[in-house]
Amino acid sequence: MACPVHAIKWVKRPRELKVRPLTEGYPKPVSVEEKENVYLAGVPSKKLFGGASYLILGGGKGKDKNMLIDTPDCDEALVQFLKERGGLEYIVFTHKDHIACHREWKQAFPDVQRVMHADDFPGEDTLEFEIKLQGSGDSSSGSSSSSSSSSSAPLVCSLPGWEEELQLIHGPGHTPGSIYIIYKDTYLFTGDSLHFSRVEGHLVGFRLQCWESWSRQQSSWRQLLLRPFPFLHVLPGHGEPHRFASIKEAHASLKACSKWAQKLPDGFTPMRRFRLWAMTRTTSKRRWLRWVVDNTVLPHGSKLAIPLYSQEEEGKEGGRKAFLDVSSSGAVVVMVGVVSLLVGVGVGLVAAGAAGGGGVRGRRGGGRR
Ligand SMILES: [Fe+2]
Repeated sequence: MACPVHAIKWVKRPRELKVRPLTEGYPKPVSVEEKENVYLAGVPSKKLFGGASYLILGGGKGKDKNMLIDTPDCDEALVQFLKERGGLEYIVFTHKDHIACHREWKQAFPDVQRVMHADDFPGEDTLEFEIKLQGSGDSSSGSSSSSSSSSSAPLVCSLPGWEEELQLIHGPGHTPGSIYIIYKDTYLFTGDSLHFSRVEGHLVGFRLQCWESWSRQQSSWRQLLLRPFPFLHVLPGHGEPHRFASIKEAHASLKACSKWAQKLPDGFTPMRRFRLWAMTRTTSKRRWLRWVVDNTVLPHGSKLAIPLYSQEEEGKEGGRKAFLDVSSSGAVVVMVGVVSLLVGVGVGLVAAGAAGGGGVRGRRGGGRR
């Protein structure tokens, strides 16, 4: 499910890795250049479909508070590491897809305050979150700023004790309550709303995994450019992180992203359809079945964003183009053809049956005579 296009896969763990735990070496600094207090928190969790999580260590007013942005698995070593450094003040969730481990972390740190945007609360198990951000990313150009973190929180806010260095910005599109987090005007934590693409050479978003609205996603990127918010590092949950040489370059990349996004059709991918598509892609090796689900299960706009990473498909000359050129109408034509064939066969069988039945009746009738 983490990668329906087969860009990553499970492999047997090499023997040399078995001598030490996977969690060794975490938390890892995200940047050698800045030497700042921002870390990759732990091994990307399976529960988050491999999503990365981050740790800010020694922040806040007294430089002695810690914060998680999304969570790794609640690993004992990491819990101990944090307990030795003053515990955990906040867990900020970038959006609802990444909350799988929130209960374990709350148990480990009962005083921690869990933060998420109110538009993203999926169910009763998350209603107990301590801070629900409120405010829309659609209504203004992002001119207001406040330290409020409760009911009247506007588009841009911070958290008590972190006003000097942290900004939370509502950025819907991937989900209605997605947020961006900017730390020290340098680090932009994006959840699943923005990441770097080496193929495109600039920042991009996930059109295929856009659960809410592609146009709203683009609008939230424009909000980032309107103020504009400064950042050098883009640190996503899923997708590739990137460090830009300057803030100007980062903004140019975001502008390129907005332009690129306009080439993709508006809309969204219903989660249920994505799950069906992803499960088929990950569990079946039958190419015809993959082709059928690629062309029938996903909406047209989403389908155009399917990346091709499998060697099998990349090996085909022009495979990507040919694959992407298969339009909905093409699929419909094929489906109509298949249905027509089935109907034709059915009619033939019925006719044959009728003819056969007539013969029997005739014989019977003849018998009666
Ligand atoms: Fe997500």
